[in-house]
Amino acid sequence: MNRSHLPDTPAEDDGQADSSRRAFFKQAGALSLAAMSGLALTRPAAAMPRAARPLPNDGLASGIVFHDANRSGRARGQAGIPGVLVSNGVDVASTDERGRYELPVQDGSAVFVIKPRGYRTRIDSLNLPRFYYLHHPTGTPDDGFLYRGIEPTGSLPESIDFPLYENREPDEFDVLVTADPQPYNLPHLQWYARETIPEFKRLPVAFGIVLGDVVGDHLDLYDPYNRINALAGFPWYHAFGNHDMNFMAADDRHASSTFQRVFGPTDYAFTHGQVHFIVLNNVFWEGFTRMRADGWPRRGQYRGHLRPTQLRFVKNLVERIPAEDRIVVCTHIPMINRGDSDGKHATPEFPELLAILSGHPHTLSLSGHTHVNLNYLLGEQMGYRAPGGALHHHFNVTAPCGSWYRGPLDHEGIPYSPGRDGSPKGYAVLRFRGGSDYHIRFKALRQSEDYQMQVYLPELVRRDALDSTQVHVNLFAGSTRSRVRMRIDSGEWIRLEQGEHHDPAYLALQARSQAHPDAGEGELPNPMLTDHHWRAKLPGHLAVGWHAVEVEATGHFGDIWRERRTFTVVTDPADVEHLNQGTRTPRG
Ligand SMILES: [Fe+2]
Repeated sequence: MNRSHLPDTPAEDDGQADSSRRAFFKQAGALSLAAMSGLALTRPAAAMPRAARPLPNDGLASGIVFHDANRSGRARGQAGIPGVLVSNGVDVASTDERGRYELPVQDGSAVFVIKPRGYRTRIDSLNLPRFYYLHHPTGTPDDGFLYRGIEPTGSLPESIDFPLYENREPDEFDVLVTADPQPYNLPHLQWYARETIPEFKRLPVAFGIVLGDVVGDHLDLYDPYNRINALAGFPWYHAFGNHDMNFMAADDRHASSTFQRVFGPTDYAFTHGQVHFIVLNNVFWEGFTRMRADGWPRRGQYRGHLRPTQLRFVKNLVERIPAEDRIVVCTHIPMINRGDSDGKHATPEFPELLAILSGHPHTLSLSGHTHVNLNYLLGEQMGYRAPGGALHHHFNVTAPCGSWYRGPLDHEGIPYSPGRDGSPKGYAVLRFRGGSDYHIRFKALRQSEDYQMQVYLPELVRRDALDSTQVHVNLFAGSTRSRVRMRIDSGEWIRLEQGEHHDPAYLALQARSQAHPDAGEGELPNPMLTDHHWRAKLPGHLAVGWHAVEVEATGHFGDIWRERRTFTVVTDPADVEHLNQGTRTPRG
């Protein structure tokens, strides 16, 4: 198996050579921050997990969705809101004229309100939306887990009530979308905070969505992570990732216990403006198998999967969404993944999902997991038969940790850690306008907004090698709708051809990390072939001397970006050799 195609190479298989984990223990011992924050850096216990228990049917949940005008949090004396959707994760009910609903529940169900347009749910001091009730009468069977699960919730309350608050929601709004912050230790978290929060808090977004791998296996990092993210100043929704799991769970049903305790259900939905967000857990856990020699549970036995109940939930919800509105499905593992070498890192039920969405022409899905940028436009060949032949866009966004914070350090002591597609560490800002229009802008961390591509060509080119010298452009979030062209010294435009390539700068940085692993955070993982690369050869007729190349890229949504580079054409091969020896002094 080619490990370069595995999205989570640092930490999911049985290998002993896990540099991030070694670094974790090394750093955990030395970090006074851990003691200062009271953070327990947990080492695994050797206990075995308990088997799952049977599911008693607990009957019917009921309650009221109300306008909490007096901000008491209590429904008494306040107006119920009719027509609000409430779900148990499968069925979807609409509140009656008094704001009341009823839903069947089982042990393990979550009952949640689907935030309607114009209202918000309760949001706690960590900027986490609290829109749900978890029903686990005796708690989750986490005795053998490394991290605490859900406390016993006891019998169903007589009434499960959801307060809502008025919220101004114009047709046009922005959303921050990021995936895989995935800190394995406190230094990772500190890097994350330094790189993201200063710019996150300046973003005029309505909320943020994190597409899973919120942390990297160490679930006690949820607390400091949430405290850091709260500083951004807007609410955060989270999807569940394969590094958010209770790896000692005996089965899939309990693999998200700690995540749910912290964030709530792994399947839920909410509406903002004219856009309906559906968040789904598409990581299926095959179950604990054994402890590894290093004392950690084995953790690679998962795969991308949407369960039948989830598809029913989507169907039940989508039936109630007007066709002119937009639907955005958010998951961790991609729906489709051309780099998936072993069938685990995509979602086989994607065609079924698209069939359900087919009544709606304005659909989009978002994922993480790969730590690279990928775009797919899908129609009938994937089962999406929308009115007017509309296409479904699947966007897979790279990670703020890039290649898991590995490789050489930058001038601030933070790993460059680009994604394996050569994209810099980053996230995306989505702008929605009504139901039909949207725009995605990739944002590289700590770079200007117009840093959208990297142009590569040699600085010195021998004249007799001109027409075999490639100009390579990595348009970080480019798609098949993107176009790239270049011109030399204001000459004729030359079109670059899109293709699947490795990123040249990533290869160079990887080589550096392999030559000097101790100078940074170990070695970068192998590169990944992605299709947001364009190439063309230089014209063969250029004169000896300095030249400028201007590259113009048109993005998926029609944005235009320009970059310029200079290069020198030489006749004497010794000039080239001279440069390659590390000096730029002209020969005289
Ligand atoms: Fe990840």
